[in-house]
Amino acid sequence: MFERSGRAITGRFSLCRPIPLSELIGSDFGFPHTPGKRAVARTGLKLPSIAKLMAPKLHIIICSTRPGRIGPPIATWFHELAVQHGKFEAALIDLADFNLPVYDEPEHPARQHYQHAHTRKWAASINAADAYIFVTPEYNYGPPPPLLNALDYVYKEWNYKPAGIVSYGGVSGGIRAAQMEKLTLTTLKMMPMVEAVTVQNASSHFDDNENFMPSDHHRSSGILLLDELHKWAQALKTMRQSQSVG
Ligand SMILES: Cc1cc2nc3c(=O)[nH]c(=O)nc-3n(C[C@H](O)[C@H](O)[C@H](O)COP(=O)(O)O)c2cc1C
Repeated sequence: MFERSGRAITGRFSLCRPIPLSELIGSDFGFPHTPGKRAVARTGLKLPSIAKLMAPKLHIIICSTRPGRIGPPIATWFHELAVQHGKFEAALIDLADFNLPVYDEPEHPARQHYQHAHTRKWAASINAADAYIFVTPEYNYGPPPPLLNALDYVYKEWNYKPAGIVSYGGVSGGIRAAQMEKLTLTTLKMMPMVEAVTVQNASSHFDDNENFMPSDHHRSSGILLLDELHKWAQALKTMRQSQSVG
């Protein structure tokens, strides 16, 4: 939708001439942007509209699927944090909703010749995002099988996109799973973030209503992770657009 390298906005704005990006958002490419007054006057778009149009789409994916899992409240907390953070258009995605069987496509996913409706649905969801957060437990010192299975299902839809990990578990906080997940992410040409949220002794962070009760450290590390993810999301989106790799 946006062409950055040419310093012009094209697409959804109907204008006599393209408005330079710097006029729309000021010279600083970091958020929060202040759109130039002239741009607001000419487009009729207010700051929230422009910022929303430009915000990278973030999918926060609940990676455990078993009955009784604790992933959803942790992911719900992180989704709220991402909304407050304000730099992303954030959506909460539940892997369980896709009901993916153990990989059952006849061809390699890079060919994108998907035979099954469940694959097409999953591929469309992944394709719609510019960045991901995987909210993942640790099973037997490794990633949960539903996550690895879901990663295998598609290929190009993941390429050249950044990903962060919110892991949880016992004393390890799921870091062994997180490290192993990064190997698979890089094979899918994704950029894993160094910054992370690690929830140790996860079961001790829930109230009587099964809401996740984050510590200050969880919040501050979550904000650092989102800040970093946003930088990469912008850079890689530009790269996908300029090289038609997305
Ligand atoms: C099959 C299985 C293996 C597990 N292995 C680990 C482990 O290696 N490290 C750990 O910290 N917790 C482990 N746990 C405990 C999980 O951290 C805990 O059950 C957590 O709630 C799992 O996330 P979920 O509820 O979202 O599935 C394991 C749990 C299961 C079900």
